[in-house]
Formats: sequence, structure tokens, C-alpha cells
Amino acid sequence: QADERESMYLVSEFAKDYFKRQLLKTETGKAIGLGYFKERGFTRETIEKFGLGYSPDVWDAFTSEAIKQGYKLEFLEKTGLSIVKEAKQFDRFKGRVIFPIHSMSGRTLGFGGRILTNDKKAAKYLNSPESDIYHKSKVLYGIYFAKQSIAKEDNCYLVEGYTDVIQMHQAGIENVVSSSGTALTSDQIRLINRLTQNVTVLFDGDAAGIRASIRGIDLILEQGMNVKVCGFPEGDDPDSFAKNNTESDIKEYLEHNAKDFISYKASLLVDEAKGDPIKKAGVIRDMVNSIAKIPDRIQQEIYLKECARIMEISENVLYSTLAQISAKAN
Ligand code: CTP
Ligand code: MN
Ligand code: MN
Ligand code: MN
Ligand code: MN
Repeated sequence: QADERESMYLVSEFAKDYFKRQLLKTETGKAIGLGYFKERGFTRETIEKFGLGYSPDVWDAFTSEAIKQGYKLEFLEKTGLSIVKEAKQFDRFKGRVIFPIHSMSGRTLGFGGRILTNDKKAAKYLNSPESDIYHKSKVLYGIYFAKQSIAKEDNCYLVEGYTDVIQMHQAGIENVVSSSGTALTSDQIRLINRLTQNVTVLFDGDAAGIRASIRGIDLILEQGMNVKVCGFPEGDDPDSFAKNNTESDIKEYLEHNAKDFISYKASLLVDEAKGDPIKKAGVIRDMVNSIAKIPDRIQQEIYLKECARIMEISENVLYSTLAQISAKAN
């Protein structure tokens, strides 16, 4: 078992180097892959730091090179780098730019691959499948590059995607990780919790991002951690925002717009249901539901008071609602 995993790590390391070489050393890689990353505003330094790569647009270019170098098809298949169909072998990431996914200690566990066009018919990202070395629910993209900064800043920014992490780094903000394609899990939150108690959620400024941020809030609260949320203008994500602003503008934006979860939920209400008492009641109930997840009683009380103040409702009714919810949960 341990031997098998070791073989999977080795082939993943080989793949990372292969994709890097394709990107930086071949004419097509330079023209297509590097061209793509340059277009996105990534510098050479950033590309090298994150180990970005390119997988040639040939059915089995990577797989046959790996086999030629002595790697066994068994492990190429188990890591999902190669797909075997009717006794033929194909590259999973053919024709895509590559984002290696590292463990906390820097080992290569898997990959994300992005198409170069904005063709809506193909999946924008393909990711390595779950495997014995890649447990998606326990990994955060960027954690290896972010861990020092998270500890130093005593805060972790949580974003949605690969390019959000990278662009923020390039802008000088390094305490950033992403759940990358999986819905956030409590294992991922616990990984952050080893480094800091404080998380700021920075999700995309679209409906999907807002939905995901709401889910994330409760998971973070359940771990007894502090959560803030900072929204982005509709159509922006941390990548586009960081690309188009200077480091000091970004930092200032984050400082001014990061809200605690009660204020964030209240601001969503103001946006969509001004003055509608039924919706307002729903939001208050939702806030109390989140408060019920907080393990610490003193923190619960502080947030209840804030909720009462912001939503202009008596603390008493909030206390009894909280008691009801807590009784049901136990
Ligand atoms: N994702 C995925 N598969 C998809 C779409 C998205 O795995 N078909 C994951 C990727 O990790 C992606 C993240 O979800 O980075 C966020 O999705 P999205 O906001 O759509 O992508 P961006 O990160 O903004 O990618 P880009 O800027 O390259 O369009
Ligand atoms: Mn396992
Ligand atoms: Mn999105
Ligand atoms: Mn996005
Ligand atoms: Mn984006």
C-alpha cells in the first residue's frame, strides 16, 4: 500500500516536471501555454513559483513519454493522469494548461487543467480524480505557498479558484487558499485551523459565489473559528479584481469591505428584499441558525446582540429562537 502510494507520488512528480518542460521549453508550449498565462497577467516568476505547465494537444503525448521513462501504466491510471479505454491510452489533460496541486508539505497530489478557449461545450477545468494520494476533501489549493503567510498574518483568505490564489499572490497577498472545485469541507477548514483561527471568505461576485459563501460561513463557525466575508462587484472574482488593481488598493478594499457574517447576511437582505417583513424574518432566522453553530456561548451572545441591533428586533425573541434551534439540534 505504502509502496503503491510512493509510486503514485513519483509519477505525479514526473508529470509536473514534464508539463513544466512542455510549457517553458517547447515551441508550441511557449506559443500556446505561456501565451495564455501571459494574457492572464501572470509573470514568469509566478508561473515558476506555482509550477504551472502545459499538456500538449496530442492524444497520448504524456502517457507514452512516461512509459518510455519506465513509469508503469498502472500508476498512470491510478493517479488519473492517463485514461485507458479499449486497450488504448489517453492523456487526461491533453491540450490544457496545468495547475499542480500540492500538499501542505509540498508534494504533488494532483492537477487541474484548464482549456485555453472559452468554449462553453468543453469543461473549463478538468481535475485529477480522487485517489489514494489525492483526497479532495482534505486538500486546499495553495496551502503550501500560503502557510507561512497565514500564520504570520493570523488570517486566511478563502477563494474559489486556482487563478484567484495565484493572482492574489502575485499582487502581494499570500495568505490565500482555495477549495478548487469541491464544495468546502470541514476537513479543509480544520487544515486552516492548524495555522489560524481567522478566515475571510472571498467568493465570486455572482449568485453561485454568494450561495457558496453562505454555506462556508456555517462550516467555519462550527469549527469555532472566526469568519468574515468580503463580496466583490458583480462579474468580478479575486483574480480579475487583483489583476486590475494595485496591492494597496486591494488591501484597502479588503479592509473596508470585509464584514462579520451578521453584517454580511444583513447586507444581502438589503440588496434583495428591502422592507419585506417575511423575507426579513427569514434572514433573522437564518442568522440565528448560523449563531447556533458557534460552540462558544460568549461568542453566541455577542453575535445575538449584534443581530438584534442590526435587524432592529428584541434580544429576547432571539434568545428564545436560539434556545429552540439548539434544543432541536440536540
Ligand atoms: N472548477 C472546476 N470545474 C469546472 C469549473 C470550475 O473544477 N468546470 C473549479 C476550479 O477549481 C475553478 C473554481 O472551480 O478554479 C472556480 O470556478 P470559476 O469561478 O468558474 O473559475 P475561475 O477560477 O474563475 O476560472 P477562470 O478565471 O480561469 O475562468
Ligand atoms: Mn487513503
Ligand atoms: Mn465562479
Ligand atoms: Mn471565478
Ligand atoms: Mn476567474
